[in-house]
Amino acid sequence: MLSARSARLAVFASGNGSNFEALASAASRGELGGDLVAVLSDNPQAFALERARRHGIEALTPPTGRFRSRLEDETPWLDALRERRIDVVLLAGFMRRLHAPLLDAFAGRMLNIHPSLLPSFPGLDAIGQAWRHGVRVTGCTVHLVEDALDAGPIVAQATVEVLGDDTQDSLEARMHAAEHRLYPAAVRRYLTEPFRLDGRRLVFGAAEAARG
Ligand code: GRF
Repeated sequence: MLSARSARLAVFASGNGSNFEALASAASRGELGGDLVAVLSDNPQAFALERARRHGIEALTPPTGRFRSRLEDETPWLDALRERRIDVVLLAGFMRRLHAPLLDAFAGRMLNIHPSLLPSFPGLDAIGQAWRHGVRVTGCTVHLVEDALDAGPIVAQATVEVLGDDTQDSLEARMHAAEHRLYPAAVRRYLTEPFRLDGRRLVFGAAEAARG
C-alpha cells in the first residue's frame, strides 16, 4: 500500500493497448484503487493513445531518440511523470527496456504485465515461446519492474490451461482475456493492501507488512 491518498497512475504502452483499456475501464468503475492520469507512448501510431483520448485520459508521446530498443534520453519521460505527480507507472505492452533514471525514480513503483508464468518464457513472443514448447499450462504475471528483464518480484499470476483443440490464436485470445482480468485486480491489490518484500517474495497482509 502506497499512501492514504488516491495514487496517480500513468501507463506506458507501445501498441494496441488492450491492457490499458482494461485498466481504464476498471478505473472508470472506481475499481482500480487509483486515478489513471496519462498514457505515454514511444509510438505515435499506438492505438493505446486513441483509447486514452476516448477515455478522456491525457495521451503523450515524449521523444524517443535514435534507438529502437530503449529511450535515448529518459529525462523528458521522467519530467512528464513528475509534472503530473505520478506515483506509479504501469507498463502495458511497452516495447522498450528502461534504465537508471526512470527505474531509480520509480523503484518499487513500476509494474509490468508479461504473458507467461514467469520465470518461464521471459522476453519477446512469450505466448509463442510457450506454445512451441508444448506446455500444458501457461498464464500471465504482474511483477515489479527491475533492471533485469521480466524478473522483478511477482505481484500476481493467473494460469491459463492449454486445451487439446487449441491453436496458437485461440490460446492467445484466452491469454489476453486472462491478462485483462489479472492486471486491474493486481494493481488494485498493490495499491490498497499493505505488503512487504521478503527477498524476492512480495508478501501481502497488514501483519506481514508490520513485520517487514
Ligand atoms: C500483452 O500481452 C502484454 O502482456 C505484453 O504485451 C501485450 C500488450 O498488449 N507485455 P496490449 O497492447 O495491451 O493489447
